[in-house]
Amino acid sequence: MSSPAELGAVLAASGRFETPAYVYELDRVRDAHARLRLALPEPSALYYSVKANPHPAVLATLAGLGCGAEISSPGEARAALHAGFDTGHTLYTGPAKRASDLREALDAGIRWFSADSPGSLAQLGGAASARGITAKALLRVNGGLPGAGHGLAMSGLASQFGADAEWIMAEPGLFADQPGVRVVGLHLYLGTNVSDEAALAAQLESALATAAMISTALPTAAEVVDLGGGFGAPFARSGDLPEFTVLRSHLEPRLDRAFPRWRQGEPRVIFESGRYLTATCGSLLTRVLDVKRSHGRTVIILESGINHLGGAAGLRRLPPIAPELVTACPPGTETTAGTDGALVTGPLCTPLDVWSRDASLGPAVPGDLLAVPNVGAYGLSASLLAFLGHLPPVEVVIDGGRVTEATRLHAVRLAVEPLQHPATNQEP
Ligand SMILES: Cc1ncc(COP(=O)(O)O)c(C=O)c1O
Repeated sequence: MSSPAELGAVLAASGRFETPAYVYELDRVRDAHARLRLALPEPSALYYSVKANPHPAVLATLAGLGCGAEISSPGEARAALHAGFDTGHTLYTGPAKRASDLREALDAGIRWFSADSPGSLAQLGGAASARGITAKALLRVNGGLPGAGHGLAMSGLASQFGADAEWIMAEPGLFADQPGVRVVGLHLYLGTNVSDEAALAAQLESALATAAMISTALPTAAEVVDLGGGFGAPFARSGDLPEFTVLRSHLEPRLDRAFPRWRQGEPRVIFESGRYLTATCGSLLTRVLDVKRSHGRTVIILESGINHLGGAAGLRRLPPIAPELVTACPPGTETTAGTDGALVTGPLCTPLDVWSRDASLGPAVPGDLLAVPNVGAYGLSASLLAFLGHLPPVEVVIDGGRVTEATRLHAVRLAVEPLQHPATNQEP
């Protein structure tokens, strides 16, 4: 990312400088995409996991770079298609899809779904048949545990994700084509946020081994094998993306052995990434509202707290939140004296709205502008936006060093939608 002070200066010059603000630099998205592409086996497809950051400009950038979209809700489906992702390269994942979710996706032209059980295959087949079409399913497999170093395990334990590998091997008939749905491949996703390259290589190798084994149980050759991802990235701390320099040479010979015709696209190999592609594009700029002493400690109260960043940390969706705060005052601005061991809180009326209990922080007087780096992924979309009714931060896009748009999400009951009747979630 640009330095916080540079960001502050660009925003100030644009005349559209309101805080709190998530600032997304599209050049950083392009850079991350180029780096990840270089690290992946060739040929392979890269799908962007929209959950990491569904901002329209971020989505349009990644669609323009040739990524597919990995979506898992009606909102993500709408956002992805609206931003220009091709329906033929949109994969609808997730273990719980309502009838109305499937209807909407199929009617929008989406055909690729990940199916997590015989029940979800039947549900998809029913919805597609009712429209006279045939959907394509990737069987999500619950294979081995991810190795050490992952942020969150999604496989190898009792889970809503996928069907256990042993179950598919023992009863392959339950996972066969059905009216309205063809089973054309496999979907694996073992764990997220792995920055150590050896651990990541081992994780993807394990996914590949499981895919090779399960593909022998499929009635026809897999057309697509989605090996998932787990590509790590810094979160709310300064730092660069990890370099994955040997991943490609590690995986390619293993792919040759598992699927001798993968270089001809049989099967097509897919990887997924959210955080690697977008983490470093985003910074949260927020101001100090108040500074005081309490029980011998300095307390710094900011415009933003768990409502704008880190709300999902308590669920372990994110690493424990302890954002690094860097001054973002434009050059030439007078800043104030340093503070060590401060309690840094947000504005919410709960004592749990604390970002740090022992912050080493430079300037801190009301009005100071601070930046949290590397929050382009799981920033706003993983926050507790509606809690306590503060306005959402603005989202500012910088492209080629210029502010190209500034918007604010409608949330917190600013826009309400009357309930439509009859109920929309009935089968099929
Ligand atoms: C199936 C699947 N794909 C992709 C992702 C994106 O992970 P990340 O943003 O860490 O790349 C996740 C995250 O939970 C996931 O569950």
